[in-house]
Amino acid sequence: MRINKYLAECGLASRRACERLVTEGRVKINGKTVTNLATDVGENDFVLVDGKRCEPIHKHIYLMLNKPKGYVTTTNDDKGRKTVMELIGGKYADKRLFPVGRLDYDTEGLLLLTTDGDLCNRISHPRNEISKTYVAKIENEISEEELNVLRNGVILDGVKTKRCRITVLDFDEKITRLEVVISEGRNRQVRRMFEAVNREVIFLKRVGIGELKLGGLSRGQWRELKPREVEYLQNV
Ligand code: URA
Repeated sequence: MRINKYLAECGLASRRACERLVTEGRVKINGKTVTNLATDVGENDFVLVDGKRCEPIHKHIYLMLNKPKGYVTTTNDDKGRKTVMELIGGKYADKRLFPVGRLDYDTEGLLLLTTDGDLCNRISHPRNEISKTYVAKIENEISEEELNVLRNGVILDGVKTKRCRITVLDFDEKITRLEVVISEGRNRQVRRMFEAVNREVIFLKRVGIGELKLGGLSRGQWRELKPREVEYLQNV
């Protein structure tokens, strides 16, 4: 990267003002003063301005996507299926974003994408128990007994699921719509919990991660997280 751009990305000043820092002989790269504006700075170079270390501010990117069904949550699918990355266009299309956690191929809804590996690990770590809210649909009505079995935990792969919140939202045209709030992230957890009581989830959408809500974001659309949303995630 050219020296003036590098200095500007360190947040020192505009590119034009940074050119002056160079021509005035105030910049050193690896101990040597540089005044030539055509100088490039590499990743391992050590840059001083007026004797002070200068490093670019790496601004991370945080996006929320409304994933449609029919997309895999990965940066690259070896079976050639459509990936969620294909939905991220515009200025972020070529950025090194990766999805935070996973939604199944057939599940839709709120998916976070970021360049911030630390944040991704924090949110995905079981210790943090960040809740995830889903809307699920099943055929026919569901009894209070079945709901209580699900709420108290069912055995998946030999381990009981943690207690969770399940509320019936409505019943219409032989379909029950439920809100399911879980605080674990086991593989296909919601679908498998219902399978454990012999019920099939025919539609599944994640509508919330902790306090983050999908809101009115249309299917296939994405938006940047607001600063207060990023701050929330950084403190979970
Ligand atoms: N539970 C599921 O069954 N699938 C998902 O994608 C997320 C949670």
